[in-house]
Amino acid sequence: DNFAEPYRPQFHFSPEFGWMNDPNGMVYYEGEYHLFYQYYPDSTVWGPMHWGHAISTDLVHWEHQPIALYPDSLGYIFSGSAVVDWNNTSGFGSEENPPLIAIFTYHDMEIEKAGELEDETQGIAYSLDKGRSWIKYEGNPVVENPGAADFRDPNVIWHEETQKWIMVLSVQDRVHLYSSENLKEWQFESEFGHDAGSHGGVWECPDLFPLQVEGTDQTKWVLLLNINPGGPNGGSANQYFTGDFDGHTFVADTKETRWVDYGRDNYAGVTWSDVPKEDGRRIFIGWMSNWNYAQVVPTEKWRSAMTIPRKLSLKDENGMASLTSEPVSELHALRMAGSEKNIASQTVSDIHTIDLGELDLSQSELLFEFQAGDSESFGISLGNDQDEMLKIGYSAEEKQLFVDRTNAGKSDFSSNFASISTAPYEAGDQIKFHIYIDVASVEVFVDNGNRVLTEIYFSSTPMNSLKLFANGGAVELTSLTAHELKRIW
Ligand code: FRU
Repeated sequence: DNFAEPYRPQFHFSPEFGWMNDPNGMVYYEGEYHLFYQYYPDSTVWGPMHWGHAISTDLVHWEHQPIALYPDSLGYIFSGSAVVDWNNTSGFGSEENPPLIAIFTYHDMEIEKAGELEDETQGIAYSLDKGRSWIKYEGNPVVENPGAADFRDPNVIWHEETQKWIMVLSVQDRVHLYSSENLKEWQFESEFGHDAGSHGGVWECPDLFPLQVEGTDQTKWVLLLNINPGGPNGGSANQYFTGDFDGHTFVADTKETRWVDYGRDNYAGVTWSDVPKEDGRRIFIGWMSNWNYAQVVPTEKWRSAMTIPRKLSLKDENGMASLTSEPVSELHALRMAGSEKNIASQTVSDIHTIDLGELDLSQSELLFEFQAGDSESFGISLGNDQDEMLKIGYSAEEKQLFVDRTNAGKSDFSSNFASISTAPYEAGDQIKFHIYIDVASVEVFVDNGNRVLTEIYFSSTPMNSLKLFANGGAVELTSLTAHELKRIW
């Protein structure tokens, strides 16, 4: 049976074999969501980077495609983005058949080995057949290296007001912004960030896009900025800024550090380009791993999966536009007919076992609502017949959410793996947990995506039992709905 190896996610995207890291070039065109990704087909560890490719019409089921971009004499193909060039500004296609343009980093290993800094430049490629085949531009690179180590991961958007393409690029501890009329010639506009946000590591994989603040007619620009290391719970993570952008300069609302996801396994996430205006969503996907241990996790044929796709929104939180992430509604299609279980409300003190009958917890979606009582901390514990457990919960005492994988299975492959991730949070009287479990991963969306924690784990046998716990007092479970989810392969 294909895609049924130990630890293989059943409804998350993963490559059939080989090494995968960042999602790349996400673009929607003619009914198809394209997902490209950092790919090394010849090994299960990082190596000469290609762009792998998959296509989905519903963001849930993916069809693997042939490799889209191979390394060449200018270097490995590192991360980047893709756009539909609707007006054929590049001249690679026509107005009737607009080209898809991929914008990526060339990483030149010869230059790196020679010990020189300027090993990264930006290149482009185009497709005239709905992303099936790609032709690299003969004028590459389109952005030369100005003498900077770490000069990569271009993300491009069409800026309506100035009628120009805008590229945001990571340059060590900041981003550079460039503009272009044709995607081939780029002018430097400005830089942002050396004095804002978190700087525990190098900045990578930026993304810049406008988003309406929910319930208002105000639009803010969101800048996603991945950082490695320096994440809130160690290793790689994704921070964001909100602010204003006039086509030239980005001005942040605050220099404070804010995180897209507090879990350790959501890195290099960016959003889809060209999702139709009628749809209006900004859809995000991340790499569900962490550079701290990604290359040594115990899977054999392949390494890594993507997160589930998420809809990003801006909501007002104490007068500040704040980013929330929620699972895209297309995922409802995974709910197995007849599997739904509704559990009666109950007061939980100490430990309660929840009977889900035949429902396969290791491939499930769970929606919990709690009414906070006098307990110091409470939550959900997934377990198996090996006494391993994964705990998810909220500590009222510490005012934080947590996912505890210290005893959730294998961890001897890396001393960085077994630990507790936390997210500062002040819950109200009620707290909701929307959880997706897929064999070796858990994604926890709290209170409609106000906080998110994404974590992978490697239990010795499937997690098949569910318990609720409350320490130092009681908590009320007011509702619990569970669905078993179908596999996508
Ligand atoms: C992030 C990253 C990017 C780079 C790619 C190389 O995970 O380091 O900055 O383009 O991976 O595979």
